[in-house]
Amino acid sequence: MTKLKPLALLAIILYTLIVTSHSTNPKSNTNLIHQTCKHTPNYAICIKYLEADPRSSTSDVTGLALIMVDVIKTKANSSLNKIKHLIKGTHEPNKKEALNSCGGRYRAIVEADVPKCVAALKEGDPKFAEDGANDAAIEATACENGFFGKSPLSDDNIAMQDVAAITATIVKQLL
Ligand SMILES: *[C@@H]1O[C@H](CO)[C@@H](O)[C@H](O)[C@H]1NC(C)=O
Repeated sequence: MTKLKPLALLAIILYTLIVTSHSTNPKSNTNLIHQTCKHTPNYAICIKYLEADPRSSTSDVTGLALIMVDVIKTKANSSLNKIKHLIKGTHEPNKKEALNSCGGRYRAIVEADVPKCVAALKEGDPKFAEDGANDAAIEATACENGFFGKSPLSDDNIAMQDVAAITATIVKQLL
């Protein structure tokens, strides 16, 4: 009995089709995430942030952009907490001034850029959202430059520049 009966063969084919379709379904969004991140300046960081958020498995490109905007918000908020801490421990006037300026810049990210991006994405106005993301990167660069090479916030500023640039290019895919 080496020959399979037609019915058995049909069962095997059906089984294979079902198993294959089940395993490709969750993969379809993995593909969207990979395709989306491929067009950003930093594929690895883009994948890392998107995959860390469970919403990414069911998001369209707008949803992926909103996840990245949330990353901007969380990072800016934690930078603000760090800045407050640093201001307390700093007595050098120039450094204190630079830190205060960074505080204003990160507040602008949380209070202006993030809400601008979220509203624009929800209203289907990607150009406006792109402006918001680009502005977040500009704020981080300005913060970094305020220290003339001795920034205690380099990690935060670089992370913000990366996330903002990734967000801007994801948003661009919606234009
Ligand atoms: C921002 O940081 C503060 C202090 O750690 C925290 O209480 C608050 O929940 C944070 N907000 C966001 C939106 O992450």
